[in-house]
Amino acid sequence: MGEHDTPGAAGHSEADVSPQTNAPTADAAPAEQTHAEQAHGVSRRGLFGLLGAGAAGLAVGGAGGAAAAAAIAGGGASGGGSEASVYDFYGTHQAGITTPVQDRLHFAAFDVSDMLDRDGLKGLLADWTAAAARLTQGLEVEEGGAVGGSDYAPPVDTGEALGLHASGLTITFGFGPTLFTTADGTDRFGLAARRPPLLEPLPRFQGDALVPQLTGGDLAIQACADDPQVAVHAIRNLSRIAFGRATLRWSQLGFGRTSSTSTAQATPRNLFGFKDGTANLKVEQHDLVDEQVWVGASDEPAWLAGGSYLVTRRIRMIIENWDRVQLGEQEMLVGRSKGSGAPLSGGGEFTEPDFEAEGPTGAPLIDVNAHVRLAHPTMNGGTRMLRRGYNFVDGNDELGRLDAGLFFIAYQRSPQQFIDVQRSLASDGLNEYLKHVGSAIFAVPGGVKKGEFVGQALFA
Ligand code: HEM
Repeated sequence: MGEHDTPGAAGHSEADVSPQTNAPTADAAPAEQTHAEQAHGVSRRGLFGLLGAGAAGLAVGGAGGAAAAAAIAGGGASGGGSEASVYDFYGTHQAGITTPVQDRLHFAAFDVSDMLDRDGLKGLLADWTAAAARLTQGLEVEEGGAVGGSDYAPPVDTGEALGLHASGLTITFGFGPTLFTTADGTDRFGLAARRPPLLEPLPRFQGDALVPQLTGGDLAIQACADDPQVAVHAIRNLSRIAFGRATLRWSQLGFGRTSSTSTAQATPRNLFGFKDGTANLKVEQHDLVDEQVWVGASDEPAWLAGGSYLVTRRIRMIIENWDRVQLGEQEMLVGRSKGSGAPLSGGGEFTEPDFEAEGPTGAPLIDVNAHVRLAHPTMNGGTRMLRRGYNFVDGNDELGRLDAGLFFIAYQRSPQQFIDVQRSLASDGLNEYLKHVGSAIFAVPGGVKKGEFVGQALFA
């Protein structure tokens, strides 16, 4: 497990908070059990009693320590981190992938200016790296950046995060196919030969209604935090740093994480009201994460080792129609109970679905077109992915319908994993209530070493 998967308070300057104050009160503990609690029979409330003030000692090293620390840091109903969580920026892998999913997202895709050359691109990545290394520790872009500089120069930090904690901020960078070769085949930065062979624009899927302005991008930045202002501050400042070098192509705010990436987190709900993330890959499943998420040392290209492929899909949910669907049909379409999240074949939330189980009429208890059946690894050659999406509501359309949905984010070792599952979902009963309007793919380089910039190996 990467070191930044462990929340701690190290590196925090003015925002230092004692670990005890991070722990939610017993009243704030979620009523629902986490995967770990069900598996080990230990409730979060029990953990507090057990660990008390000594909990801080668990915050470093070891999966058990990380899981327990995440549970302890988990405030509020979502079971996410707390405002005092701080994740290392440097490590084997970039943070923000297996890190316990924070509650808020600001995602941005950029187009690099045609005026930029190879050295200019390296300079931009170096500047972004330096800023991200500080921002993730709860610091300003530069010391005294907001109000400590000259009265006659614009501040180098925009200031809206002054006095706020790091709030578990992670900043994750990705490179789109067009960074390597533009649509008309131009090799702007001498990178065409370094392009990962698998980094192709995604194929068209059945039902796609993609809007070009919400699709693609040369560069991506995913900022996740437990405070929306912290995530927005990060993207805003990184965009400002890029001024004249890269411009925002599209961006997305997200709330109420629709996944959990640690067994210590309670499963949240998406805007259809269903638990989402139950069967997701979890950081504690080390072997599966290595096999399914990280690009291996023997994979091509070598510069991407320790990285991953990121797929984003802006999926509009037609929630006004969904809200008129009977509960039983909603559950049939998903394949799980809306209340408990248990598969319709029986058991509890974390019971494996039994796709062979039949009801009294001989019909399968989990419908042939249920989402969980079609997305399940057994229907997809064993393929898994690490989902990390967020709910969104971006106002309403001209018909008075909420522009709401799921900003789907998945990390996988090969884009083919997403492609296979998305193709399986062609007959998904949920599709009647969904519209995929945005799509992008990025190669996410491995973790950053101190003194280097993100993706440096690409330019070696
Ligand atoms: C708005 C669209 C979507 C909604 C509302 C949705 C909802 C859900 C829900 C409620 C579950 C069950 C709980 C869980 O295991 O997480 C689930 C599982 C899953 N979904 Fe989705 N999903 C959506 C889109 C997608 C897409 C686009 C993909 C990938 C192409 C995907 C892949 C999966 C996978 C792999 C599982 C786990 C299946 C298993 O192992 O049992 N989902 N989804």
